[in-house]
Amino acid sequence: MRSAIIVGASSGLGLELARVMAADGWRLGLAGRNMSALEALRTDLGPGIRVQPLDVMRTDSVAPSLDALLEGLGSVDCVVLSSGISPYNRKLQWALEESTIATNVAGFAACATWAAHHFFEKKAGHLVGISSVASLRGSPTVPAYNASKAFVSHYLEGLRFNLEKYGVSVTDIRPGYVDTPMTKGQKGMFWVVKASAAARQIYAAILRRKKVAYVPRRWALVALAARVAPGALYRRLSN
Ligand SMILES: NC(=O)c1ccc[n+]([C@@H]2O[C@H](COP(=O)([O-])OP(=O)(O)OC[C@H]3O[C@@H](n4cnc5c(N)ncnc54)[C@H](OP(=O)(O)O)[C@@H]3O)[C@@H](O)[C@H]2O)c1
Repeated sequence: MRSAIIVGASSGLGLELARVMAADGWRLGLAGRNMSALEALRTDLGPGIRVQPLDVMRTDSVAPSLDALLEGLGSVDCVVLSSGISPYNRKLQWALEESTIATNVAGFAACATWAAHHFFEKKAGHLVGISSVASLRGSPTVPAYNASKAFVSHYLEGLRFNLEKYGVSVTDIRPGYVDTPMTKGQKGMFWVVKASAAARQIYAAILRRKKVAYVPRRWALVALAARVAPGALYRRLSN
């Protein structure tokens, strides 16, 4: 039976992906800070689910926590990194920038390198990171968030170049706007999809071992436009 770890499974995309994967027979190890949400999900999903408290900002706790999940599951075929924060920060409060970088950059990289070492050892496995369409350009309102997602996508690409020759797959998921607690009350969104629908598309990309997947796929067009848009035009649209 296939088994996976999902970091950031207590809410939003990670939670919905856990539902989709459990329904397809995966044994799961679910991590995050909100243990009551994880326990409720475990009760909901039934047998074969393990939960583990993990705050990725405490990078020294990442390896012991993921080791504990690995030990409980016996083996891990896939690691999905969905944890992330995106605090609105036009006023550039350093505390918010710092926590975004600690979670989305340092915390992400700590989890990703744990997975990379594990899959390198077994010469198999699949690392999946949830980046964003936001990885492509800067943002005046969530500057650390967009920059952190650029880090996530580039880090995943580097790990893919490093690991694919050993039989390890790496997938970079780039969602557009998804209706989750992260985007609650956010203005100016378009093409918003439900988290359950996005999770199904993420799961399809995982099964196909895609290198990069836009979710939904039409966001690839926005990505293309964002890449070629001149700076002045992009600034006007994003302000
Ligand atoms: N929603 C969107 O429109 C959208 C678009 C593009 C990309 N994304 C990305 O998708 C991923 C999931 O976001 P979401 O929309 O599902 O948001 P969400 O509902 O707020 O979920 C975020 C998840 O991250 C976990 N998390 C946050 N800080 C953590 C920490 N320090 N340690 C461990 N886990 C932590 C949370 O768990 P705990 O609070 O329990 O720790 C939660 O499970 C994020 O990486 C986000 O950047 C979202």
